[in-house]
Amino acid sequence: MSSEVLRVSNLRKRFNDLLVIDSISFSIKSGEFFCILGPSGCGKTTLLRIIAGFEDYEGEVLLKGEKIKKPGPDRVLVFQDYALFPWRTVIGNVLFGIESKLQKREALKVAEEMLKLVGLEGFEKSYPHELSGGMKQRVALARALVCDPAILLMDEPLSALDAQTRMEMQAELVKIWQRTKKTIVYVTHSIEEAVFLADRILVLSKRPARAKALVEVKLERPRNRFDAKFTEISQKIYDLLKD
Ligand SMILES: Nc1ncnc2c1ncn2[C@@H]1O[C@H](COP(=O)(O)OP(=O)(O)OP(=O)(O)O)[C@@H](O)[C@H]1O
Ligand SMILES: [Mg+2]
Repeated sequence: MSSEVLRVSNLRKRFNDLLVIDSISFSIKSGEFFCILGPSGCGKTTLLRIIAGFEDYEGEVLLKGEKIKKPGPDRVLVFQDYALFPWRTVIGNVLFGIESKLQKREALKVAEEMLKLVGLEGFEKSYPHELSGGMKQRVALARALVCDPAILLMDEPLSALDAQTRMEMQAELVKIWQRTKKTIVYVTHSIEEAVFLADRILVLSKRPARAKALVEVKLERPRNRFDAKFTEISQKIYDLLKD
């Protein structure tokens, strides 16, 4: 039985007079791939930053029953721009989160395994500038996963990639998620991406963000974007976002 990892109740967020999030509630189960979908500027990044512990808020956000008040190693954020350390090699970047916690030999072993998992075996000694966008995002993913967070928070991580690489990385991400059984909270404004990835999709309104619907995607993986059911769900979400 899967247990609840995150519970958000009556969440509100203001920046001075600007109401950005208005009374959102949802909960996320352990091992779930949860997507947050909404129009540009509606408050998605703000919602993720609240879960990460970087923002104060009104309402309640509980991680395994404990109120989130500050950032912690149980939550790791992955962004669109990778945020890799350019002066560190690939393995050096992945080692970053664990080198202070583990013995050198053990850390190296864990980092190497993680690079294998994301398909970067053989690139340990490369530097970020020598890699393609997709590869850099794999490094960022490995660096996040190596910390073994309870929740992986991803903010439009693939949106800087070209269409082809983006689709490949979506498929890759599903495989990695299946292997690691991580709980993922994934922000996107692409309907197709959300339907391809998610177990459930929280559809948000324009700012201030309100929950329009929570859509369950009951499709087998790997999913086929040209499948009639896939299109049907996409259409439903498109209609939800329209009004
Ligand atoms: N630190 C801040 N101070 C004041 N206003 C902010 C701050 N951070 C975000 N905002 C405002 O909150 C609103 C939501 O921003 P947010 O970045 O969460 O949107 P988003 O849904 O992630 O947008 P996008 O799809 O473009 O990434 C915007 O109007 C933005 O200007
Ligand atoms: Mg954003």
